[in-house]
Amino acid sequence: MKDPRIIVALDFSSTEQALRLAKMLDPMLCRVKIGKELYTAAGPTIVEKLMRDDFEVFLDLKFHDIPNTVANACKVAADMGVWMINVHALGGKKMLVAARDALPLGGTKLIAVTLLTSIGPDDLESIGLNNEPKNVVQKLAWLAHSCGLDGVVCSALEAAQLRQAIGAGFCLVTPGIRPIGALTDDQNRIATPQMAIQNGADYLVIGRPISRAVDPLSILQNLNKEIEAQLTTN
Ligand code: C5P
Repeated sequence: MKDPRIIVALDFSSTEQALRLAKMLDPMLCRVKIGKELYTAAGPTIVEKLMRDDFEVFLDLKFHDIPNTVANACKVAADMGVWMINVHALGGKKMLVAARDALPLGGTKLIAVTLLTSIGPDDLESIGLNNEPKNVVQKLAWLAHSCGLDGVVCSALEAAQLRQAIGAGFCLVTPGIRPIGALTDDQNRIATPQMAIQNGADYLVIGRPISRAVDPLSILQNLNKEIEAQLTTN
């Protein structure tokens, strides 16, 4: 499959657990995401191991620091050959531009987290931002776009609005995906794979619905069929 749309979240605390799931998956059918938990436990070695098994890696470390520090961290991550990395848009314009400039164009994709989906209106007010989360998300997505980033992480429910506002060619990566009938776990604002693609998402981050399945590969295959069907009607 060319350009698989599913990114499987490897939310584990050890190399063994992550590789056990990866062995049940197929790098032709998905990419994988390494977040802070797995990277803190297993470091660059797990990235190398997964890449050696032909998986393209989204290194989800959400950098947020002074521009020079973030730029250097992005460069190190890109030199590892990962497919995608991310930074917090709240780091501001100078930080985003420094991150962008640290990466060769056409190489590792650089996307931004706008507002974490765990942040609600009360949280915004408590840090002095008296605005609706959806307005802040729009503003930060435009900032990322104007700084030359490749896209943003957003809820699938925000994707339609962002796609309409920003247009094609800006990558929307959406977590909070739950197939019909799946457990919602701790996710609140969920969407099915079909809804996410219909709303204009490019890539779907999916963790537990695949990692906790008895047969992760068959779930992956079924979800890809659902996505393919929606892509042809989009
Ligand atoms: O298991 P589940 O499908 O809920 O995993 C979703 C993944 O997406 C996790 O790695 C989680 O940290 C990540 N994520 C999220 N919501 C965000 C940003 C990232 O669920 N707003």
